[in-house]
Amino acid sequence: MIKTQIIDGKALALAIRQKLKEDIRKLGAQTKPGLATVLVGDDPASAVYVRNKIAACKETGIETIDHKLGAATGENELLDLLQRLGGDRRVHGILVQMPLPPQMRASKILEAMPEEKDADGFGVKNWGRLYQAKSLTELENCFIPCTPLGILKMLEAYRVNPEGKMACVIGRSNIVGKPMAHLLTLHNATVTVCHSKTKKLAEITRRADILIAAIGRPRFVTKEMVKEGACVIDVGINRMNDERLVGDCDFEGLSQRSGLITPVPGGVGPMTIAMLLANTIKAWKRTLNSRSTSDTRIEK
Ligand code: GUN
Repeated sequence: MIKTQIIDGKALALAIRQKLKEDIRKLGAQTKPGLATVLVGDDPASAVYVRNKIAACKETGIETIDHKLGAATGENELLDLLQRLGGDRRVHGILVQMPLPPQMRASKILEAMPEEKDADGFGVKNWGRLYQAKSLTELENCFIPCTPLGILKMLEAYRVNPEGKMACVIGRSNIVGKPMAHLLTLHNATVTVCHSKTKKLAEITRRADILIAAIGRPRFVTKEMVKEGACVIDVGINRMNDERLVGDCDFEGLSQRSGLITPVPGGVGPMTIAMLLANTIKAWKRTLNSRSTSDTRIEK
């Protein structure tokens, strides 16, 4: 039996947030970074996520503008709001919490996302850039979606280099699975994407040196599905009947088999939030740079 190292996402996220706070303070700019959050409907889990994101912004020195729209809001109303936020100079990043209610087409909303404020990285322009990138340097022009970005930071911090490794992503969502697979490929891993229709799943997952579980089913990944010594990243946040949060992996079982593992809570979740703050600050810094460039031009 091997001793698993627990990846402390909470501590890493706190350290990143501390550094971001310092960055904002050191820049001493007149305009503070601002994030607009948009929550549509009354999904309790989404409300908690947005509340946590707002609290983290406030603590870091990012101003927030909080929009709550009713569950029956029409698509056009949200499109109008996005247009207004696009023109609002206090807003550097925009977060539209997913999922949206069924009357709204996420594709239409993400087409309308102002690209320079796309802190979540889901807008179609950014998405295009992300998938066009052939190297890590080209990713600097993009906003990388927060959960996959947070996972890459965790791998880096714990010295898990994806290059040449077999990676398996369970789940093919736009929020996690799809961008994660692409980013691991860019980091030179050999990536397999599994999903609900995958046959002989355990045979595939057992080959993975890096296993990313993003399925949304409590304790779905058991120790028989994991290669000894593998690095396991658990993206799931499932609330049980007794209110406890559990991941997509059987943490106790995997602790006897994996080399590294993220806990739930305290793993991926805090890193997702830290990356949203980082992307908002990236968007803000770009506006500072472009303003100072245009100021210089005026002076000349
Ligand atoms: N729903 C679940 N995760 C996320 C996320 O990272 N961003 C947004 N906008 N919605 C989500």
